[in-house]
Amino acid sequence: MRQPLIAGNWKMNGNRSSVETLLSNVINGASTISKTEVVVCPSFPFLDLSERLLSGTSIKLGAQNTSTKESGAYTGEVSASMLANFGCQYVICGHSERREYYGETDAIIAEKVSICVEKGMRAILCVGETLNQREQEQTESVISTQLDGVITQIGIDIFNNIEIAYEPVWAIGTGKTATPEQAQSVHAFIRQKIASHSLVIAEKIRILYGGSMKAENACDLLSQSDIDGGLIGGASLVANDFLAICRAGD
Ligand code: G3P
Repeated sequence: MRQPLIAGNWKMNGNRSSVETLLSNVINGASTISKTEVVVCPSFPFLDLSERLLSGTSIKLGAQNTSTKESGAYTGEVSASMLANFGCQYVICGHSERREYYGETDAIIAEKVSICVEKGMRAILCVGETLNQREQEQTESVISTQLDGVITQIGIDIFNNIEIAYEPVWAIGTGKTATPEQAQSVHAFIRQKIASHSLVIAEKIRILYGGSMKAENACDLLSQSDIDGGLIGGASLVANDFLAICRAGD
């Protein structure tokens, strides 16, 4: 049985005051959550504050990205070592927004996954198709290519320390959530793909759904056999909504 995981991807949102308010409300509400693993992923400037506020709670800290470099003359970059140093246990790698806006390729994403695991963190590897790709019935080939890009470069064993997030690009921030059946079909495909490399890893790996998961649809999605949790954007910025999704996983 895989422990449910709900991770909040705050994206580029918040300020010191709103982070303090959001985290204190999530912490207060999380006391009733027993089974689900809860992670919050603030922007880099809020990692120190978040680490201090989450100290002593069961809520884990994650980051939204990492550099592929260890250290040095890479202005503006944040290394995996720095993230680990601030208590991050998870790092989102290859989010579609980074693929789209910052040209992250499967090879770059594979490097990010590798360095996160090397530094003792778990990577949340994002995959997903665009609306056009889905309409062209290319969903499985797109996701297969994205997974192969990582597996070929760094091997399947690293997937012992990875969660996969299936995020249909057309569902991100749109309110157009994939149906439970659509999501389950792709999650099952992902698990079969992993199984073709390792049956043991395929059974244990958690596959999260992301893309307009909300309090009102979380139960139906999380009740699917191959949906092990969620990667939550907009709803993670509202404590009660995020907590309702976490409870749906419980
Ligand atoms: O990483 C999760 C995010 O892309 C989903 O965003 O707002 O559709 O929940 P949202």
